[in-house]
Amino acid sequence: MKKIAVIYWSGTGNTEIMAEAIGDGAKVNGDSVKLIRVEDATKEDVINSDLIAFGCPSMGNEVLEEEFMEPFIESLEDVDFSGKTIALFGSYDWGDGEWMRDWEERMENYGAKLVDEGLIIRLTPEDEDIEKCKELGKKLANS
Ligand SMILES: Cc1cc2nc3c(=O)[nH]c(=O)nc-3n(C[C@H](O)[C@H](O)[C@H](O)COP(=O)(O)O)c2cc1C
Repeated sequence: MKKIAVIYWSGTGNTEIMAEAIGDGAKVNGDSVKLIRVEDATKEDVINSDLIAFGCPSMGNEVLEEEFMEPFIESLEDVDFSGKTIALFGSYDWGDGEWMRDWEERMENYGAKLVDEGLIIRLTPEDEDIEKCKELGKKLANS
């Protein structure tokens, strides 16, 4: 059985809705799926997982949330990501997804394999967006 973690930060709940749907989709094969707020996450949660979805909205000026998510991602720089596949996701509003493009590049530089492009949803996910989140979770579980 694979260990799947969904680690996310969400201020107003939009990215959290995405996290829950990705977690639901990731249960497709009956693997263990843990949803963890980044405030409660440890580096071991990443090291001990086979597949990880990381979620964070665009904050600041096209950056990750700076109090919890940015330091957490920074702390993963020396983690061995070979053999781990990840997914990235997050909500945004007025931008063009720059934060997600930067985040993808950063995680690839860490050696992580991305299952797909980062999934970005504008503000609150609608039904069709929830489906996209579930699909991403399934794809991650099947990778
Ligand atoms: C302080 C702050 C900074 C933000 N900066 C950006 C930004 O640079 N680009 C963007 O597209 N959206 C930006 N947003 C909008 C959020 O990404 C958007 O509201 C998102 O839905 C929040 O997700 P959450 O509900 O998971 O916290 C910002 C929001 C806040 C509160």
